[in-house]
Amino acid sequence: MTPDDVLAELTALQAGDVPTHGGATMAYVYDSGRADVDELAAAAQASFQWTNALDPTAFPSVARIENDLVGVAAALLGGGPGTVGTLTSGGTESCLLAVLAARERWRAAGGPGRARLLLPVTAHAAFRKAAHLFDLEVVDVPVDPVSCRADPAAVRTALDDRCALVVISAPSYPHGVLDPVGEIAGLAAAAGAGCHVDACIGGWVLPFLDDVPEPFDLSVPGVTSLSVDLHKYGYAPKGVSVLLTADPELRQAHWFATAGWPGYPVVNPTLAGTRPAGPMAAAWAVHRLLGAPGYRQLARDTRAATLALAAGAGALAGLRVVGTPVTTLVALAQDGPDGVDVLNLADEMTARGWLLQPQPPFAQSGGDLPATLHLTVTGATAGRVDALLADLADAARDAAALPRPVADPELVAAAAGIDPAALTVAEVDGLLELAGVGGGRLPERMAPVHALVAALPRPVAERLLAGVLDLVYRPAAVPR
Ligand SMILES: Cc1ncc(COP(=O)(O)O)c(C=O)c1O
Repeated sequence: MTPDDVLAELTALQAGDVPTHGGATMAYVYDSGRADVDELAAAAQASFQWTNALDPTAFPSVARIENDLVGVAAALLGGGPGTVGTLTSGGTESCLLAVLAARERWRAAGGPGRARLLLPVTAHAAFRKAAHLFDLEVVDVPVDPVSCRADPAAVRTALDDRCALVVISAPSYPHGVLDPVGEIAGLAAAAGAGCHVDACIGGWVLPFLDDVPEPFDLSVPGVTSLSVDLHKYGYAPKGVSVLLTADPELRQAHWFATAGWPGYPVVNPTLAGTRPAGPMAAAWAVHRLLGAPGYRQLARDTRAATLALAAGAGALAGLRVVGTPVTTLVALAQDGPDGVDVLNLADEMTARGWLLQPQPPFAQSGGDLPATLHLTVTGATAGRVDALLADLADAARDAAALPRPVADPELVAAAAGIDPAALTVAEVDGLLELAGVGGGRLPERMAPVHALVAALPRPVAERLLAGVLDLVYRPAAVPR
């Protein structure tokens, strides 16, 4: 094939994707709305695409890029003289490494038994993955059911000498609210536990705003590490995040070195061996282009648009804004028993070309959290708030006329008796067929599927979710 034909094929493949640009996809992607940012990022990425950040002594350019970006992040986010950091592949990897470092430190200090990870239930799912991978026990801490912020009293009750790390969010992904960082970091420090601030999504916005209600960064006593993603509001392409640690010893605790094989000596600061340098170079270039003034302008414009969006959406009949959004995220919930079902609303918005992310209802002790619609506002959406609100009003009217999505009671009853661990892949395929997602093809209306996921016992739901992915990733027939 010719290169042009190959590229045409790739472009054709993308026709079925949600748009990465234009601001209508309000999850997964972060569009500054500035073509110069995208062009520079692409050029920088291309010039580093063959570089291997595995070895910064062979590629000193990579060390320079990493040191520059970590230095900028530390200066922006309250770092002190001992602050160091590592570039990772994304938010999840930053969170994983923060947990690993805390566990290692806790073990080195002689922590008894199996380490515990305290998670307000709104902490990102990446921390559950970390506990799974690194063998920590998750202690779920309920959040305040109205403000959706982590509850210091509940954290105090759950803290004990097995707690290696407490996680707080600045802000939380599901609702965009800021946890009480000062209070909880103080409690963690008093108990001898580490405290990680997950600022993956807010850390490149909050420092540029004037209306942040309280300090949230490494300057807060008790905070031991902080994550911030450059591939979110740093407007870099996918694959780059920063993990800051308050002291160099803690950073070493997530590094890995071995001379125990006959190959090259290995020192890995992150989970990967070979590390792509393209996203790092792109983040560096975008930072050089925008600088603090450019980021400040983007953050302020996007924040103003978010406030207008929240005010407009909250004024629509049957909808309310959850908690107090502090950055550029908004969560909408049904207002009152006769309000608009937000799972139906998500489907109606999809039909109008917007991707708003449905989040199912969540049961927790102390008061359940409602189903919500998550909206991530980026630079590109900022100029389209009026159009978004008009579509939202229209979609809310149509959603209100739809039947409320309910899980099929027979399926739920049947699921109650299932041992998810005993199900084979073929049996899961069969169950998914019954649930309307046979063959891994998602139905046009997802509300009933989300309602079902929420109604199933969590282990069964998790087995079925994995089953959907299993169906999506079936290898193509080998071309002859
Ligand atoms: C607060 C927070 N933490 C962690 C993550 C995980 O980041 P990633 O998807 O880059 O792995 C996200 C992603 O949205 C997030 O919002």
